[in-house]
Amino acid sequence: MDEHSLLASFESTIGRHERIEPRDWMPEGYRKTVVRQVAQHAHSEIIGMQPEGQWIGRAPSLRRKAILLAKVQDEAGHGLYLYSACETLGVSRAELTEMLIEGRQKYSSIFNYPALSYADVGTIGWLVDGAAICNQVPLCRTSYGPYGRSMIRICKEESFHQRQGFELLATMMRGTDEQRAMVQESVDRFWWPALMMFGPPDDDSPNTAQSMAWGIKRNTNDDLRQRMVDMTVPQAAVLGVTLPDPDLKWNEERQSYDFGAPDWDEFKAVISGNGPCNTQRIAHRRRAHEDGAWVREAALAFARRSNEESHE
Ligand SMILES: [Fe+2]
Ligand SMILES: [Fe+2]
Repeated sequence: MDEHSLLASFESTIGRHERIEPRDWMPEGYRKTVVRQVAQHAHSEIIGMQPEGQWIGRAPSLRRKAILLAKVQDEAGHGLYLYSACETLGVSRAELTEMLIEGRQKYSSIFNYPALSYADVGTIGWLVDGAAICNQVPLCRTSYGPYGRSMIRICKEESFHQRQGFELLATMMRGTDEQRAMVQESVDRFWWPALMMFGPPDDDSPNTAQSMAWGIKRNTNDDLRQRMVDMTVPQAAVLGVTLPDPDLKWNEERQSYDFGAPDWDEFKAVISGNGPCNTQRIAHRRRAHEDGAWVREAALAFARRSNEESHE
């Protein structure tokens, strides 16, 4: 088939809302966009282990430690599925890791904020995993097959993460005044950065239209942000915390909440490398990668030997 008919068949697959699979022909721009999005997503899972991971050793009980440990391990698993999905497009995990630690690929802006108190473990589960769910549920229908299938499994675990965060905060809210204040302070810090996770406003998001035409993205940033607000406000009321937005108000006509605008200058500073923890996150990831070099070498040597033995 010539390029023209290949493109026509690709576009008709997209038009029928069917999946594009690794063996299928695809335009180079599509391949690059999927690689960029899936890699960024994978990196976010892996870097996202850091803020909460710091609290594993300081969790207040064995039960809380076991829950947090399992949650952080789930995130590692998500990163691995997503790196594998990305590898089906011809980029190796080693190259992706290289691009992350050299700052050539991004990860979610949220993980450049620190987890300062134990309540942050709950808030991250509730708001950050909550935002991840709003983002990722529609991605179960994304056009690239391996990405969509990994999203289905990941979303099940993310909703468990969100529940565990909510349950932790609910427990603290039933505790002492000090614990309630700790929860409120944490929610005050995380609310706006969580809303920024959906990316810039639609009129400032140049790639959205192409990504939607290709079925990679299913909703715009602002649409997903609205869903997050509508989902979260009633949960905040159940918890008894105040969301730090004076403009937050039910809009009867739209049957949705109106809300204020995040500080987009702060968002731009964070994604361009100047957030509170950018340097620390990458330095930590680089160190972990270097410390793991002997494991990768040993695994390769073992694989080579097993291969030789099976050929004897
Ligand atoms: Fe995850
Ligand atoms: Fe998660």
